[in-house]
Amino acid sequence: MKIELHENKVYFNNGNEKKEIHPFWLRERVDGEEFVDKGTQQRLFDPTSLSNDIIINKASIHEEFLEVNFNDGISSKLNLNEIALEFSKEDTVIKSIEKTKWDSSLSNIKNFKYQDNFYESKEMHDLLVSFYKFGFVVIKNIPTTKNYIVEFANSIGSVRRTNFGEYFDVKSKPNPNDLAYTSLALAPHTDNPYRNPVPCIQLLHCIESKVSGGYSTLVDGYTVTEDLKKSYPDYYKILTEVKVRFKFIDKEVILESLCPLIELDEHKNFKQVRFSPRLDFVPILDKEELDLYYQARKKLSEMYNSDKYRIEFKLAPKDLMMMDNHRLLHGRTVYDANEGERFLQGCYIDYDSTEGKLRHLKRKFNL
Ligand SMILES: [Fe+2]
Repeated sequence: MKIELHENKVYFNNGNEKKEIHPFWLRERVDGEEFVDKGTQQRLFDPTSLSNDIIINKASIHEEFLEVNFNDGISSKLNLNEIALEFSKEDTVIKSIEKTKWDSSLSNIKNFKYQDNFYESKEMHDLLVSFYKFGFVVIKNIPTTKNYIVEFANSIGSVRRTNFGEYFDVKSKPNPNDLAYTSLALAPHTDNPYRNPVPCIQLLHCIESKVSGGYSTLVDGYTVTEDLKKSYPDYYKILTEVKVRFKFIDKEVILESLCPLIELDEHKNFKQVRFSPRLDFVPILDKEELDLYYQARKKLSEMYNSDKYRIEFKLAPKDLMMMDNHRLLHGRTVYDANEGERFLQGCYIDYDSTEGKLRHLKRKFNL
């Protein structure tokens, strides 16, 4: 990427093509303390109040700066590296971490260990990178007193509160409003598909585990749906297109969201999975279309539930698992509540928490 000048016009040249940079684009980015607040990096002027007829009277390049005089009398020096960074249309921090596809053969994943000053450490940076690669991470040695999970969540970003509260206790209890609060096995599912937006990340903290069962299970929805795309393209297509009504009904709230089981982004790439077959209600479609939809959902369910994709492990007291609820499915094996206590606490955070923390730590450690 090179910035070039010709007759008071500024061009970027990426080796393949040369295009003019709009003068207003540069005018919006004028630097200097009268234009930008140094602390917040926020503009001290409103660009929508400027005339759209901005042109460049004079431009020159000096080492790493572009110096520009505009026709409204404003001059500024712009850093060429910072201009170049803006040409990436993708997020340069989060999207640059490539997702690693995994299945039941996944092994030797690094566990992280909580210690003093953890939230501001290089270890925390590495943890977040690992989280974006694999969609989950386990952190050992997290204090188990005073609902510490809330402090953990708020030290990365902010707790995403729901109608289940700021955090929830996962243990078997009488008259549960969700099967999570029983000792039954839970098949792989994503949480809260009926919310808009769906909570991005779930934290689960093991406080007590005195039962022989109750293993945590995880499946990579990204791997499974990419495999589905390859092997059963018709199934994949219909599951990305049909919007399904997810519902949750409680005494004081009715939550509903209409979304596909596999959601793609604007480039038709993986964005999010939702899977909770006790809560999904497909609309009435043509019989042939529903035929295909039901075959597709069955196949997807078989894949999510197959040994080929599932990993199982047991969380020990003080272990905290952080998992991407838009990418991974989670579940647990059955346990016998008569053997002793199994007590986990959970809460949600959203991507702004982990993304904001990761960008900050990258800046801090100059990575
Ligand atoms: Fe769950």
